[in-house]
Amino acid sequence: MTVRLAPSILAADLAHLADEVARVLAGGADQIHVDVMDGHFVPNLTFGAPVVKRLRQVTDAPLDCHLMVERPEDYIGPFADAGATILTIHPEATAHLERHLAEIRRRGMKAGAALNPATPLSAVEEVAGELDLLLVMTVNPGFGGQRFWEPALEKVRRARALLDAKGGGAGGTALLEVDGGVARETIGRIAAAGADTFVAGHAVFTAADPAAEVRELRRLAEAGARGGEAR
Ligand code: DX5
Ligand code: ZN
Repeated sequence: MTVRLAPSILAADLAHLADEVARVLAGGADQIHVDVMDGHFVPNLTFGAPVVKRLRQVTDAPLDCHLMVERPEDYIGPFADAGATILTIHPEATAHLERHLAEIRRRGMKAGAALNPATPLSAVEEVAGELDLLLVMTVNPGFGGQRFWEPALEKVRRARALLDAKGGGAGGTALLEVDGGVARETIGRIAAAGADTFVAGHAVFTAADPAAEVRELRRLAEAGARGGEAR
C-alpha cells in the first residue's frame, strides 16, 4: 500500500497560501486538499474555483478538491477549467451521482465521492467501480480541528473491502481517503483499517514545522499499514 498525504489548506495561513503549499510539498505531500464549502451543504464558507485556478499557476501538485456544496454538478465545469486534478462530490448533495461522476471524468479530472459520518457506505455501492477516490468523513464536515469520530474506523474497513472488490478507478483500485481529525494519535489506526490517503489540516499547519509533520504522519501511517496487513 502506498501512503498519500493530503494537507488541507483550510488550516493554512491563507494570507501566504503559496508559501504554505510550498512548505508541505517540500515535506513530501502528495496532493493538496482544497475544502470547498458553500454555506448551505455545510455551515461554513471557504473558497471556489478562482482559488484553484490561482494555485494551479504556482504548483504542478495534484489539487484534490472536496466539494461540500449543494448541486455540485454546477461546479464541474469551473473546477475543470481551473485545473483541479480530483473532484470529489457528496451523494447527499445531488440526485444523480453516477451521471456527475461520469461528467467529472469526461472533463479530464479524477472522480471522487465523499460520505458524511452518518451516510451509509451503501450510498456508493452501486458506483464503486466508477470511482477514482472514495472519501470517508471522520468528522461532520464544515470545520477543521474537530475530534476524530472513532466509529468511522469500522466504515473505513468496510470501504476497503468494497473497493478491493469493486473499486474501479482508471484501471486500478480507487484511493481510499480519510478526512477529519487525522493526526499523530489517529493516523496509524486509520491506515491499519485500510485507508491509503490521509487529509490533515490542523495537524500539519499548526505544527511548528509543517514539512516535518508531513514526514512524521507518513512514517506513522506506513507503520500502521504494515500492522494492518500483518493481521
Ligand atoms: C472538514 C474538511 C476537512 C478539514 C480537516 O469539513 O473536509 O478536510 O480540513 O481538518 P482537520 O484535519 O483539521 O480535521
Ligand atoms: Zn475535506
